[in-house]
Amino acid sequence: MSAKKFFITGGAGFIGSNFIISLLGKYRDIRILNFDNLTYAGNLQNLTRVETDPRYSFVHGDICDPGCVDSVLADFRPDYIVNFAAESHVDRSIECPDIVIKSNILGVQNLLGAALHYKVGKFLQVSTDEVYGSLGERGFFTESTPLSPRSPYSASKASADLLALAYFHTFGLPVNITRCSNNYGPYQFPEKLIPLTILNCLKGKKIPVYGDGKNIRDWIHVSDHCSAIDLVLNYGVPGEIYNIGSDNERSNIEIVKAIIRIVNALRPDLACSDALLSFVEDRKGHDRRYAIDATKIRQELHWNPSVSFETGLRDTVAWYLDHAVWRDAILSHEYRSYNRNTCEKR
Ligand code: NAD
Ligand code: TYD
Repeated sequence: MSAKKFFITGGAGFIGSNFIISLLGKYRDIRILNFDNLTYAGNLQNLTRVETDPRYSFVHGDICDPGCVDSVLADFRPDYIVNFAAESHVDRSIECPDIVIKSNILGVQNLLGAALHYKVGKFLQVSTDEVYGSLGERGFFTESTPLSPRSPYSASKASADLLALAYFHTFGLPVNITRCSNNYGPYQFPEKLIPLTILNCLKGKKIPVYGDGKNIRDWIHVSDHCSAIDLVLNYGVPGEIYNIGSDNERSNIEIVKAIIRIVNALRPDLACSDALLSFVEDRKGHDRRYAIDATKIRQELHWNPSVSFETGLRDTVAWYLDHAVWRDAILSHEYRSYNRNTCEKR
């Protein structure tokens, strides 16, 4: 049997790079083409440990560019497309709503058309629980919860989900959509709550807590998200949506305080304390609570998360503390020149 080929978009970002590393570790006979246009969030240093692996290649390209996508797919002929590429930050989408339209909607439409043309075996759109909107104190998002996105980011992701489903129903493209809760783990860009908090602890900088800090997110370790995507890719029923989450609801203030405690235990010399907390103006339209019901993927695909939040958070804090080279490159924007030097088609 010939090697399975994966066309992975947005593979230089946080979850995409973790996914590529996990696939290469798990399967021997595969080929991966990472297609990424290296926005501020794309960092090829996330992939240094696999960049010389002959099963892996990188192309610097934009999912919104039909000619580029077409020429790469014509040559590579993937079995699977997994689309991680997106503008992924809610705050940026509020500052500048138009940034999410191009990559998160038009880019997906472009990929869907190309997937159909090249008859890929599966197109997996990596989506988010944020498409369901905001919960009150009780209840969970299931796959049949009505879409009610409330930020430009979540509205763009919901639009992409609908386009993907349209390509399934109208053209028979074998599509799956995964909707995952908030991820944490190595290689996350420090604009998101967990890495931002860790890095601010290290630098002795104030940690911005939006509003009253009681908004709730449902956290999952990125490795558990990756294992779920792999299962859906292989066994997901075409046209189906799968929620992914690991029952870890935490308020933001709980998260931030837990990180401060862990940093203190690992680096007492930093004398990090709750004095770093800074309650700031709330995010506009800030969703109050997210909570995922992942019964479907657990029962139908026998997926189970394996990282407990306590262990995962401790390991994540330790990872950011230990990886000074990666951290310093991000903070000094040096990774941008690393990207420039290495983004030729290989
Ligand atoms: P990220 O911002 O870390 O990475 C996004 C990657 O996409 C970057 O490498 C960027 O360069 C690339 N990219 C952006 N626009 C592109 C374009 N037009 N063409 C090619 N590449 C492009 O994001 P992430 O946190 O890794 O999220 C990956 C996916 O998972 C996103 O689709 C996001 O909506 C979804 N998701 C994220 C979370 C989370 O907690 N981070 C949770 C659920 C779903
Ligand atoms: P974030 O990591 O941006 O993910 P998302 O908006 O996709 O859930 O934010 C997680 C939560 O943390 C969200 O409720 C907003 C809050 N937050 C802060 O309180 N301070 C911060 O500096 C950031 C980035 C987020």
